[in-house]
Amino acid sequence: MKMSSSCLMFLVSNSIFLLSLFSFKIHAHRCTEDFLSEAHSRNLTLCKRYKHSNGVEFAWNFKNTTQMLQVMVGARLESETGWLAWGLNFGPEPSMVGTQALIGIKQTNGSFLGDTYNVTQYIKIGCNLLPSPIDLNIRNLTFTALGYPHYYIIEATIHLPQSVNGSRINHVWEVGKVAMGMEPKIHDKNLQSYDGTEIIDLQTGIATSIRAARRHQARIAHGILNIIGWGVILPIGVIIARYFKKGPIHWNEHEQWKNAHATCQTCGYIIGATGWALGIWLGTRSKYYSFPQHGAFGISIFTFATLQYMQTLALRLKPRTNDELNTYWSIYHLSLGYALLTVICVNIFKGIRIMPEEEKWRPAYIAVIASFAFIFLVFEIINWLKFKIDELAKKKDSTST
Ligand code: HEM
Ligand code: HEM
Repeated sequence: MKMSSSCLMFLVSNSIFLLSLFSFKIHAHRCTEDFLSEAHSRNLTLCKRYKHSNGVEFAWNFKNTTQMLQVMVGARLESETGWLAWGLNFGPEPSMVGTQALIGIKQTNGSFLGDTYNVTQYIKIGCNLLPSPIDLNIRNLTFTALGYPHYYIIEATIHLPQSVNGSRINHVWEVGKVAMGMEPKIHDKNLQSYDGTEIIDLQTGIATSIRAARRHQARIAHGILNIIGWGVILPIGVIIARYFKKGPIHWNEHEQWKNAHATCQTCGYIIGATGWALGIWLGTRSKYYSFPQHGAFGISIFTFATLQYMQTLALRLKPRTNDELNTYWSIYHLSLGYALLTVICVNIFKGIRIMPEEEKWRPAYIAVIASFAFIFLVFEIINWLKFKIDELAKKKDSTST
């Protein structure tokens, strides 16, 4: 099967685009003006905003000689009973389980009440998260509703044990939408929530884990490659096979439709499989959470697309000798093809749902689907009209003879 030069160009430009994505500098997000001025008024000199993780802001001061850590954590809580959590995890990894947390809960009357919570492994399997003493030496713990709309902060001074290394500490934060009294209920199951961890150097603010930084670029690349490969080029290949063979557009003089279809499906498969491999890599890197449905659909897409592709190659596009076999092959090839397109569409939406900038991706992909739906509709109408006109002409012929 020949790969056209346009396909090669596409692959090259695609690679350049990917490279440029990965060469972006990781820019630490600046804190908002309001939060920064609150931090300065408390003599907190370092500040970070986790834009892709519920926009949580973190300001602090750390004296390594005394192991004193003064923190202020803030977030916007829009829902009626939202909660904000922040804590330290003295375990080997920055993860939810094992976090000694300070949690503030927005009450229905707008006040912000809080307490200390020990987040154990039982919470992950559904046990209630209730206030309890924690393993942190805390002073001046306060929970405040700031004057700014829906903005809440937690403040504390923590005396870290001598054994804790302040230049490599696991801190964890989270935002939830629902609480009952002083019991926070489970947070969203998306990346905004799962990215709330970091290994941080308290003296410089530099993250020593790549978890939320580079990975964000890899996720964008994964989304784009999958949408382009499976979601755009494969359907174009289907349109070519369906409408460029028997009309309304005729590319069948030298069977050009077949080459164009094969080229599209090859390019789509290569680009989609690259995106899929990136997804698998991302999945294996995130050991504390997973997206089982999106992953299972993704693996099925790759498996069945590979099957379809390999079978087509093995049969050199189609068995030509036996008419009956030919018909069965066509039915099988078409059904698997359309089923694949449907699952691809569903999984792209599932992927978009877990991304932090869901609201930007969704309309873009809906526009892609709408364009395809429009093209399919127009070609189907033209074909149907042609069929009707031919039928009328045939009737006329038979009555006149
Ligand atoms: C209110 C009760 C809570 C429940 C029921 C809950 C449940 C869960 C579950 C089921 C997952 C993992 C999903 C998976 O395995 O794929 C998870 C992940 C996560 N949760 Fe929670 N959670 C709760 C509270 C919290 C709190 C208070 C924090 C912050 C201190 C937090 C921070 C995280 C983080 C950062 C992750 C990502 C995975 C990790 O690093 O462990 N969660 N949560
Ligand atoms: C049909 C197209 C797609 C396929 C075949 C696919 C496949 C996969 C697979 C196999 C995983 C690993 C799942 C796990 O083990 O947890 C994954 C993860 C993921 N996918 Fe997709 N995906 C597709 C489309 C998308 C799209 C369009 C987006 C977003 C715009 C997206 C975003 C993600 C994200 C954010 C993850 C998790 C990354 C992480 O764990 O850090 N996917 N995908």
